[in-house]
Amino acid sequence: LRYTQQKKTLLGKRVLISAGPTKERIDPVRFMSNHSSGKMGYQLAEVAQQLGAEVTLVSGPVNLASPVGVKLIQIETADEMYQAMVESFDQQDIVIKAAAVADYRPVKQHDKKLKKQDGDLAIEMERTQDILKALGEKKTNQYLVGFAAESDNHMNYGEKKLKEKNLDAIVINDISNPSIGFQSDQNEVTFMTNDQHDFFKSASKNTIATQIFNRIIEEIGVD
Ligand code: CTP
Ligand code: CA
Repeated sequence: LRYTQQKKTLLGKRVLISAGPTKERIDPVRFMSNHSSGKMGYQLAEVAQQLGAEVTLVSGPVNLASPVGVKLIQIETADEMYQAMVESFDQQDIVIKAAAVADYRPVKQHDKKLKKQDGDLAIEMERTQDILKALGEKKTNQYLVGFAAESDNHMNYGEKKLKEKNLDAIVINDISNPSIGFQSDQNEVTFMTNDQHDFFKSASKNTIATQIFNRIIEEIGVD
């Protein structure tokens, strides 16, 4: 499978990828977000493009250059990511959710800057929509891949997400290891389907992205 980069194995396939964090506004100056760098998702987009796919990348705010030949849709909030993903979902062959979506957002987005007052401040939060779960419910022929960021019990939590979100595969990340994941250029993951687990040992995110696509290509059976 080493030659898949040269072979345009995904020619004629449509691939939708989400990457980066979401940013949930509190007021005009403040927001809640997370440490996702977007690097894993951007590498997946680049590899898919090199394999000949028509790639759409839905990205939260990151400090990365847009991959060449990829349709980039920039969003900020979980809700905007949801809209963008759902809009193009039907036409896709492969959908990968590498984004670190905020699970909660402030109930109120204030138009004016909040002024400090005596005493403590509590910000009321509400759940965002689970985008991946919604896509799992809408799924027809798409090969749907999720990511799982776990700091303990990785395999159990990962498997639970695979089943509950109706995924074809899940990429499990161990975020308790500081040398891999989130901000790092390296990653180490387990690619899990219903009947196979593959461990990809620590490597560049480009290598991990290639390994992920090799497995997806095996699963969907293109040659
Ligand atoms: N995800 C999503 N929409 C959300 C939250 C998560 O689409 N509102 C997606 C992520 O993009 C990822 C997968 O679900 O592909 C798993 O995300 P993760 O944060 O690991 O799991 P959660 O289901 O949010 O559960 P928890 O954070 O409690 O572990
Ligand atoms: Ca989450």
